[in-house]
Amino acid sequence: MTEPNELPNDLAPFWMPFTDNRFFKEHPRMFVAAKDMHYTASAGHQVLDGTGGLWCVNAGHGREAIVEAIRHTAGQLDFAPTFQLGHPLAFEAASRLSLLMPEGLDRIFFTNSGSESVDSALKIALAYQKARGQGTRTRLIGRERGYHGTGFGGISVGGIVGNRRQFGTLLTGVDHLRHTHDPARNSYSRGQPQHGAELADDLERLVALHGAETIAAVIVEPVAGSTGVLIPPVGYLERLRQICDRHDILLIFDEVITGFGRIGCATAAERLGVTPDIITLAKGLTNAAVPMGAVAVRREVHDTILNSAAPGIELFHGYTYSGHPLAAAAAIATLGIYQSEGLFQRAVELEEYWADAIHSLRDARHVIDCRNIGLIGGIELEPRPSAPTKRAMEVFHRAFDSGLLIRVTGDIIALSPPLIIEKPQIDEIVEKLAAILPTVE
Ligand SMILES: Cc1ncc(COP(=O)(O)O)c(C=O)c1O
Repeated sequence: MTEPNELPNDLAPFWMPFTDNRFFKEHPRMFVAAKDMHYTASAGHQVLDGTGGLWCVNAGHGREAIVEAIRHTAGQLDFAPTFQLGHPLAFEAASRLSLLMPEGLDRIFFTNSGSESVDSALKIALAYQKARGQGTRTRLIGRERGYHGTGFGGISVGGIVGNRRQFGTLLTGVDHLRHTHDPARNSYSRGQPQHGAELADDLERLVALHGAETIAAVIVEPVAGSTGVLIPPVGYLERLRQICDRHDILLIFDEVITGFGRIGCATAAERLGVTPDIITLAKGLTNAAVPMGAVAVRREVHDTILNSAAPGIELFHGYTYSGHPLAAAAAIATLGIYQSEGLFQRAVELEEYWADAIHSLRDARHVIDCRNIGLIGGIELEPRPSAPTKRAMEVFHRAFDSGLLIRVTGDIIALSPPLIIEKPQIDEIVEKLAAILPTVE
């Protein structure tokens, strides 16, 4: 077997996800090790992790307690099914996770990824409506520019055209709210933008169009990440919650990115003071050391499904690896680190410093907007005429070569470092970007 630090001699068989495969295989850039805030690249240099891997390594890399929990569990219980049987670690992980969720969302369904969490949440919403005798409520409402992973459910309610256009007609009975990005009124906002709460009224428009009795659930990211850091306007999520309540529609927050301290609390729901009915999670749940996702469900939704079912299986849904022992062990260790090191609070403590750093780039070449919340930063570049996305991609490659990992989506640089980041490392991120931006045409 190839060791992680030995380079493979054939790059062709691995069809890489969300990648320009032809370019990559001509210009491979690889990681061979990771510790704390840094990757080691195959070329030998250190790369400061400005993105927590893919918004997921919230506690920093190579955490010994997590590694040890995985190692120990692999030797003790490599796998156990959770269909009609169980093992203690899955129950313990669910209990611990439920304590971090907003009050009432204390029933946990395990998955293996954010995409599976989203599809599970949508299915739970439909099953709930049917269970309570509202079987006409089958319509799912997402939002333009939303990212909810890559399952058919997720891309149907999602609103990123590039992720949809190759795949036919998708789910039927789906509609979308308008997105909240409004640079004319809100550019260079620190924290939540002031304008746009009224965009939530789009849901009233869809209720008038389709009839409330056809709508099962609305799903949004409280802070949209993968589409380029869209922060909810002040009052927007509150209004969405009110309209859902008025029409008896379930509200789902996709917190795959915002969960586990990214904006300073266990959930964005807690930080922003709006409680949905269902929360989807993944990524930071295990600090990304083992794949795992989860859906936190309001107890009444869970109980309705269980209590209305005939004796036997209540929800015909699940995954071979739901609550996998290694993932459950990693989750328990990860939640322990978040708590013992106060990492969610750390994101709050660093937030002002981080905001100053992000906004220090406002006059850098090509920059047309900077935005921030918690330890998330978005820096939007003016697209190169007739070649959108190319400019940001060049910044990405130059950053990597200069020892900084960033993420780009369209022409937006998205930053989300591990929550253990130190102030000098925040400085390093913006100093590197400030040096690179003028060198890119
Ligand atoms: C909000 C949101 N939902 C779902 C997903 C999908 O997660 P995964 O890639 O683990 O399937 C992501 C991934 O970035 C995400 O940001």
